[in-house]
Amino acid sequence: MNGLVALRKLHRNDLDRMVELANNEKISVNLRDQFPHPYTRNDGTRFLKMLDSNDQLIVFAIDYEGEYAGNIGLVLETDVYRKSAEIGYFLGEPYWNKGIMTKAVNLTVTHAFESLKLIRIHCGVYEYNKASQRVLQKCGFEKEGIFKKAIYKKGQIWDEIRYAKINPI
Ligand SMILES: CC(C)(COP(=O)(O)OP(=O)(O)OC[C@H]1O[C@@H](n2cnc3c(N)ncnc32)[C@H](O)[C@@H]1OP(=O)(O)O)[C@@H](O)C(=O)NCCC(=O)NCCS
Repeated sequence: MNGLVALRKLHRNDLDRMVELANNEKISVNLRDQFPHPYTRNDGTRFLKMLDSNDQLIVFAIDYEGEYAGNIGLVLETDVYRKSAEIGYFLGEPYWNKGIMTKAVNLTVTHAFESLKLIRIHCGVYEYNKASQRVLQKCGFEKEGIFKKAIYKKGQIWDEIRYAKINPI
């Protein structure tokens, strides 16, 4: 088990721990406003229900040494973008800086390229989120550009840094 990071299906019985870890402003500040703060049991229940009804969204629980530690997912794009997906993730604060998300992103990209046959995975990171930028760099994502002043978060305007990884096949 030592240091083992695995992806698995997100279960209903992950709800309480997911809500406990997600209810953290240091997490929500890096995500879209649809991931609110405070993050309540209702928010978690709504999210799990939405997963059942949305085929474009694939979400895994991140399992660290047998414990639920966070979520990682792909939003599958449509029409001419259907070989692309956006990757998104959060990890509970007690688990930060142990290399867990680097492993989880690598596992998700492998799934996207090898099983789903996607060509391109991309991610937009707010300029102040250095940890997530570092994770993407460590996973071989390239910085493609800066969407200047694209983000309005908590009353302030920020740049978004765009990263992508291309399937080498
Ligand atoms: C961002 C996040 C996913 C990182 O997960 P993690 O498991 O801690 O990441 P890892 O341990 O694999 O790697 C983190 C890297 O960032 C670095 N880092 C952490 N904080 C940093 C900071 N403030 N400035 C610069 N680098 C930082 C770490 O040193 C490490 O790099 P290293 O291996 O070269 O030392 C996690 O903090 C999180 O869930 N944050 C809130 C949600 C979020 O930001 N989601 C992504 C939105 S794009």
